[in-house]
Amino acid sequence: MKFEEAIMNIGYTDAYHSGVVQVVILRMTYMSIVNYSYLIVDHINNQAVIVDPAWDMRKVDQALKKTKTILSGILLTHSHPDHVHLARPLSRKYNCPIWMSNEEITYSGFYDQQLKGIDNTPWSVGQIQIEPLLTPGHTPGGMCYLIGNSLFTGDTLFAEGCGLCPDIKGAHSMYDSIEFLKKKIMPETLIFPGHSYGKSPGQIFSQILKNNIYLQFKNKNDFTAYRLRKGQNKLSFFDFQ
Ligand SMILES: [Fe+2]
Repeated sequence: MKFEEAIMNIGYTDAYHSGVVQVVILRMTYMSIVNYSYLIVDHINNQAVIVDPAWDMRKVDQALKKTKTILSGILLTHSHPDHVHLARPLSRKYNCPIWMSNEEITYSGFYDQQLKGIDNTPWSVGQIQIEPLLTPGHTPGGMCYLIGNSLFTGDTLFAEGCGLCPDIKGAHSMYDSIEFLKKKIMPETLIFPGHSYGKSPGQIFSQILKNNIYLQFKNKNDFTAYRLRKGQNKLSFFDFQ
């Protein structure tokens, strides 16, 4: 098998361009679980950061090799195991920092020598300008990352729904986070969630604004009643609707 074909097999799809910054979509699987990790590539400085790496180190290594980049950091949207699974081993392997919100670190107790707590202060890795947006609800310290015209949403926002909330407080926070994103994010922004439930990653926000039921609620109580309705599997990290 040629390398190009192997890359296709690992989910290396057509990249989305934002100036000199590219997004490489990595579809990661473990048994029946599917997560999306994203390699964000700076082609000027030949470095990259990765969002929520999980399950398949080989795919990360191959994507770095294919893009001729060195891994310079790991962005975590939240602390659930299917999002942080490869953070520590990748940090060791490439000697790079792991970023997570201060709130999520406090909530989860996640620790690593290379872990750096962040607030909402933007920073840059070469050409990659990262704006962290605190969006609690699924977890108390959930973070989205706005990079160029792309928003990496973890389990806060999916194309087809939003993340499960553990209780009323969480659902209230999720409503506020969604309202915040509706005001903050430009309609042409591309949305890269941690999971897909039908639509491919990289949907345009204007479409999600129209089609995602969780973005249609006009008040917090109606949203909360729907988000916490009976019949959902709250034990699953991956049940979303
Ligand atoms: Fe999660």
